[in-house]
Amino acid sequence: MSSSNLIKIIQPDDWHVHLRDGEMMEAVTQYSARINGRCIVMPNLEHPVTNRELGLKYLDKIHSLTLGQLFSPLLPCYLTDNLDLDDFRLALVENIFVGAKLYPNNVTTNSSYGVSHIEKIYPTFEILQNLKKPLLIHGEKVGENIDIFDREKVFIDEELVLIREKFPDLKIILEHVSSKYGADFVNDNENIAGTLTPQHLMLTKKDVFFDEYINPHHFCMPVVKDESDLLALRKYACSGHKKFFIGTDSAPHHIDFKIPNLNAKPGIFSSPCSIELYASIFEEENSLQNLEKFSSINGPNFYNMSINKNCIELIKESWKIPEFTIYKNLKIKNFMGGKEINWKIKK
Ligand code: DOR
Ligand code: ZN
Repeated sequence: MSSSNLIKIIQPDDWHVHLRDGEMMEAVTQYSARINGRCIVMPNLEHPVTNRELGLKYLDKIHSLTLGQLFSPLLPCYLTDNLDLDDFRLALVENIFVGAKLYPNNVTTNSSYGVSHIEKIYPTFEILQNLKKPLLIHGEKVGENIDIFDREKVFIDEELVLIREKFPDLKIILEHVSSKYGADFVNDNENIAGTLTPQHLMLTKKDVFFDEYINPHHFCMPVVKDESDLLALRKYACSGHKKFFIGTDSAPHHIDFKIPNLNAKPGIFSSPCSIELYASIFEEENSLQNLEKFSSINGPNFYNMSINKNCIELIKESWKIPEFTIYKNLKIKNFMGGKEINWKIKK
């Protein structure tokens, strides 16, 4: 339901978020739990979540930070070249792992344990396919001769096409789709959906890359691309297309890791304002009537889960996003921090 200044939608889910560990986790978890029924929590901790025991421990920590809240973390297993397959299968059967996450080696933060050659982990895809569990993919290929803006396309052409052919019944989520090419691939193929972040719907490379400088607060992987990409992604999101849904990829880093050059860690922290940003985007595209599909319906439908029972309301009221999230010794730049935004959660 929506009028010009009030939107009531089924409670959203965030199908891709980084809650981290330790103090950072204490600082950021509340921002995801404040609105979402469920979150897919990424397993790329400094010591990644690669087995059942680590999975149980990590879920316990999240539960203890969200006691009394209607909030369910869903955890995919971090795939490596040499997982214990029996342990992996058991953790999937027990629903400790919701599925698995493929990080190709060294494509982003904490991916140095990621997969070196995808054929090596075909046995894990076999297990996922048999158990009808999804494979979540960071779809980029890195290489000396691969331009940073082409990584998603090269991954699709050289890896994803093969995975799709070899495991036709495997349910795949192409995460944080960043290009028209990637979104069209999702649209054109079976058994695959895509998550879309606020930053890929709001920024282009002109907001990140300058002559001798990058804006570290707009630097994420995959990098944001051209206006034609942004427009294509907006079209898929705002039409309510059933294959696209929220995955904020909210990825906090302490400000010291955000030094303005290419050594800055990739990742944008948006969870203090993500649903509000999506609402503004849908409003700009005259598509507020489709926000609920994108935020609350397409995701559970693709994951074969129930749709949340509660609702949330957003009112049209201007507020300023705080510039930073500060907690104990941590200081994190909020995405769009310091900017005015038109939509606010109604308490
Ligand atoms: O920008 C990103 N940051 N992309 C990712 O895939 C990982 C994330 C992080 O963990 O910081
Ligand atoms: Zn991520």
